[in-house]
Amino acid sequence: METILSKRIQSLTQSEIRIMSIECEKRNGINLSQGICDLPLPPVLAEEAKSAIDHGENHYTRYDGINELRSAVADKLFQYNRMTVDPDSEVIITSGSTGAFYCACLALLNPGDEVIIFEPFYGYHEYTLLALDLVPVYAKLSPPSWSFSPEEVESLITEKTKGIMINTPANPSGKVFSHQELDQLADICVSHNLLIFTDEIYEYIVYDGLSHISPGSLPAIRDRVITISGYSKTFSITGWRIGYCACREGLARPIGCASDLVYVCAPSPLQAGASKAISTLQDDFYKALCDKYEKKRNLICDAMKEASLLPYVPQGAYYVLAEAGQIPGDTSKEKAMHILEKTGLALVPGSAFYHGSGGENLMRLCFAKEDQVLEEACERLQALKPKTYINT
Ligand SMILES: Cc1ncc(COP(=O)(O)O)c(C=O)c1O
Repeated sequence: METILSKRIQSLTQSEIRIMSIECEKRNGINLSQGICDLPLPPVLAEEAKSAIDHGENHYTRYDGINELRSAVADKLFQYNRMTVDPDSEVIITSGSTGAFYCACLALLNPGDEVIIFEPFYGYHEYTLLALDLVPVYAKLSPPSWSFSPEEVESLITEKTKGIMINTPANPSGKVFSHQELDQLADICVSHNLLIFTDEIYEYIVYDGLSHISPGSLPAIRDRVITISGYSKTFSITGWRIGYCACREGLARPIGCASDLVYVCAPSPLQAGASKAISTLQDDFYKALCDKYEKKRNLICDAMKEASLLPYVPQGAYYVLAEAGQIPGDTSKEKAMHILEKTGLALVPGSAFYHGSGGENLMRLCFAKEDQVLEEACERLQALKPKTYINT
């Protein structure tokens, strides 16, 4: 029988990350393409989740999450993000931050609406919009500092524009939006009556003494921001699917209905584990996490510089984008395959983060790996040193 695909699914291609992961597995290589953290999870999290299973917390929860987790998230939003939200009506626990963004778009936007996203972008942001018949409109982030032009952003706005997507710290660029930049975007959103979707999944991974600033903490835009985050990265639990969104009640209620429809609820015992960990772990846990990643960042960036993969040293998150102009290959896919063949390291071709023909000279590497794996990767990178090309 002929394969039947919806038009929406036809527009989604298999992600470069998955393709590189498969190629890497075939060669028994080191996978630096996927944003999976190798790090161990905090013991309190697993203990509480196991105990919740043993105590029968294995059923549907309230559609917006268990009381303890909504309260823990609201307290954390107050203390860390400087946002005041009502745990009973302004926090929705979701199936990861991915589920939060999908449900926010499903609940608040209509087919044909336009959303501005910054490029290079995180693929799921673009694909989520496309899957819902929404239209991504691309605003440029320019290296080396990944700055944007507020004038360019404003020039992209049409009568169909309904929102702007911010990702801070950003994947893949590592950009941490400054207060001034957020104020500029806030002014634009107020004057054009736009929503702001903000994905802050890497909020605790910020380097060089910089601070994470949540757009939702800016009073001028509090009512138009949908803050999205979760614990996949902070607690190294990407498979648990614990995320949330926080916004004013009028937006939170429909997002909760959408989340109920698509996911029913986030996994019950894992919600219990997460709420215990959020309320138990102190500042030293988050500081140690950040310090650990900063050391890994420095290690890998130094090795990349020596290996002709010139890194744009990230301000946050755990990816590095690098200029790969000196690596053989006409496209970033060819360059990624060359790197895999030469070193056994899987990276993501830069084209995965751009629409059209952008990103062909870029490569992304994820450094959320155990130290010995990262050290091995640094050593293997040296096979890319220019002198190795002379006789090949
Ligand atoms: C920017 C960004 N948002 C969201 C996610 C996924 O988060 P979650 O596991 O909470 O769905 C990722 C994972 O790589 C990411 O890079």
